[in-house]
Amino acid sequence: MCPLQRPPGEGDLRGPCPGLNILANYGYINRNGYDTTVNIILASNKVFGMGIDLATAIAGYCAVVAGDILTLGLGLTGDNGILGSLLGDGLLGKPKGLDWSHYRFESDVSPTRNDVWYDNDPASIHIERFTSLYNRGLTKPGKGGIDLTVLTPHRQEWTRHSIANNPYYWNGPFTGLAVVTATHIFTYRFHANYTTGSLDGYLDGEALKLWEGVSGEPGNFKFTYGSERIPPNWYRRPAGFDYGLKEFSVDALWTLEQVPDLAAFGGNTGKVNSFVDVNVTDVTGGVLTATSLLEGNNMLCFAFATLHEFIPDLTRGLVKNTLQAVNQITDALAPVFAALDCPQLSKLDASYYDQFPSRRSAI
Ligand code: HEM
Repeated sequence: MCPLQRPPGEGDLRGPCPGLNILANYGYINRNGYDTTVNIILASNKVFGMGIDLATAIAGYCAVVAGDILTLGLGLTGDNGILGSLLGDGLLGKPKGLDWSHYRFESDVSPTRNDVWYDNDPASIHIERFTSLYNRGLTKPGKGGIDLTVLTPHRQEWTRHSIANNPYYWNGPFTGLAVVTATHIFTYRFHANYTTGSLDGYLDGEALKLWEGVSGEPGNFKFTYGSERIPPNWYRRPAGFDYGLKEFSVDALWTLEQVPDLAAFGGNTGKVNSFVDVNVTDVTGGVLTATSLLEGNNMLCFAFATLHEFIPDLTRGLVKNTLQAVNQITDALAPVFAALDCPQLSKLDASYYDQFPSRRSAI
């Protein structure tokens, strides 16, 4: 039986991830919003059918850049290192939680949240963006609903919006290619209702409202912090059909084949409409091209290889022990590279990213 939904109490944390917020609201992970990566991985698998390989890669990486290696905090923790104190001596000096992992995990062009640059709040639902997605679901031909054919043009629309309005818009080789692709795909794959036992679930705007903590009707939608709910009569993906790295790679490729512009990684350079597209051939020393990037698992391989390459830079000054952070990421990523059968991408030239204002803290 499903445990009871309970909104967060005083001092409890919720953040930019509706999946994790739900797990905490229902007590599948600690209701206070801090838990070990192991518990978060197991709960993501149990409740949503997220593959253990995918959950491990995400949670393992997030714990390094937003937590204290072993634990993960779902939202703003302030400057007092609460996460570190949970499990003794954490690696981070001042762990800040997912809200403050900007451009390392928390990314621009989220499906329903704002870019951090606009209002410094990338964790609350952005009503205009949410309404736009809701309305797209209503106008989808046939029975309506929100699936990848709806989320992909939605992402394209808001990418254009960010290029035109956010001078620091960043669509990095990891955050853009992997995270933004993932959050759009996850919205459908993990929130859809699989009542029929089929792998093609169904998600409509009304269910999305519950998942995302939104009430009201179009024109007066309201987001309430911590109110995310599992819709009534919802069934997760059928047992035995977890959604892991390989399934994600297939969907990611499909998405970028529909709109190849979304595979352009780089960012604005401090002014609106100044988007510079970094050439993948230059960065990889010719191992990948714009064409081969969209073949097989190459795109995810490149995204994760970049993460691996940049981790010393990203964690410098943030963690007490950079070497341990690097080792932790190397361990978390080894199964990823093996599962995706990645080409050798050891020589990535990071100098191409120096032209972007956010370079030192972004990936
Ligand atoms: C396993 C550990 C997980 C971690 C560390 C994690 C972390 C995050 C973070 C940092 C974001 C914000 C990204 C952005 O700025 O766009 C995010 C967004 C998201 N996550 Fe998770 N997540 C995890 C598991 C899950 C699960 C199990 C689900 C299943 C429902 C999920 C669904 C989503 C969705 C749909 C979004 C997009 C939210 C939006 O902007 O509309 N995540 N996640």
